[in-house]
Amino acid sequence: ETSKKIAVIGGDGIGPEVTAEALKALRAVAGEDAFEFVDYDLGAERWQRTGEVLPDTVLEELKHVDAIVLGAVGAAPGSKSIPSGLLERGLLLKLRFAFDHAVNLRPSKLYPGVPTPLSEAVVSKGEVDFVVVREGTEGLYCGNGGAVRTGTPQELATEVSVNTAYGVERVVRDAYERARARRKEITLLHKHNVLVNAGSLWNRIFNEVGEEYGDVERRYLHIDAAMIAMVVNPSQFDVIVTDNLFGDIVTDLAAAVTGGIGLAASANINPSGEFPSMFEPVHGSAPDIAGQGIADPTAAISSMALLLAHLGRVDQAIRIDAAVAADIAARGADAGSTTEIGDRIAAQLA
Ligand code: NAD
Ligand code: IPM
Ligand code: MN
Repeated sequence: ETSKKIAVIGGDGIGPEVTAEALKALRAVAGEDAFEFVDYDLGAERWQRTGEVLPDTVLEELKHVDAIVLGAVGAAPGSKSIPSGLLERGLLLKLRFAFDHAVNLRPSKLYPGVPTPLSEAVVSKGEVDFVVVREGTEGLYCGNGGAVRTGTPQELATEVSVNTAYGVERVVRDAYERARARRKEITLLHKHNVLVNAGSLWNRIFNEVGEEYGDVERRYLHIDAAMIAMVVNPSQFDVIVTDNLFGDIVTDLAAAVTGGIGLAASANINPSGEFPSMFEPVHGSAPDIAGQGIADPTAAISSMALLLAHLGRVDQAIRIDAAVAADIAARGADAGSTTEIGDRIAAQLA
């Protein structure tokens, strides 16, 4: 068996710190020869040194790898030296769009013993274990809009959400397939009472495709009401499907109620397989804790389970999930440093 090529973009802040632990786990479970890792020096430091965010030559090279592992990119909000969103749009979103990462998969599971802001009464309602299927290539993320009379009292700024029948249908189908393989329940989150154009498109396709999945129970919730549901009884969710921005927001809340952003993994999947998929924690570069060795690498490690499953190594994916679950269960109030957590999980996997 030839080794698969994995591009590694550690990125900024805690990105490289958590990525190192993720690769440790990957090597421990798959063996030293399963993957060839190729490091890409991209992010704030590269931009400051060369003015490059993601050179075309690098984008072309990345096209041919088997998967991409990303830490995080982005400067501290309010940074004076790096324009807001420069790296996020120029690198992260660029990759999601260029490689057609239509399915942004974000599982959430509340492991026993994990500290959660949910009350005991809420937790006792049932197991919290759901997955958000977030559309990744359309919506308000297309950069479709503009501003006129900038800086004047008459300034007008627009962001136009792009939703295509093609784009909505493929992510909705993907979500139904996942629901069928899970507890056979699916919820569409949108706001079709206000966003009538995009909302009707999503709603119609959700119902039409749903007719083909008679075994899957479907329902609709307005996104605002879903925020309540996520906090008062998240056990009601199995598969959630939603657009790009609603999906961004709901997955941070989902992370917060299931043990924190340090545990939340994600996969950016190219459904056709034409381009490499990308695996990354949901969190960002966390400038407030960067360089201290205290970032939780669990999300990055769990993202490697999603990578392994995507590459057909399902047994190894299950082993990572089990090792993570065991480690989380055994953690005290202080989980330990970034490398301590990574070493413990890798040791279980070796
Ligand atoms: P963030 O996710 O980086 O941090 C939010 C909070 O969570 C911070 O208090 C941080 O310390 C904490 N946190 C995050 N990851 C953690 C971990 N692994 N262990 C422990 N604590 C953790 O979000 P932000 O502060 O809004 O964004 C910082 C930068 O990251 C911004 O430039 C933003 O655009 C960027 N960002 C990048 C990505 C990505 O590359 N995928 C995702 C989100 C944000
Ligand atoms: C995420 C992040 C990104 C997003 C940002 C950094 C562009 O918040 O992956 O959740 O909004 O998708
Ligand atoms: Mn986000």
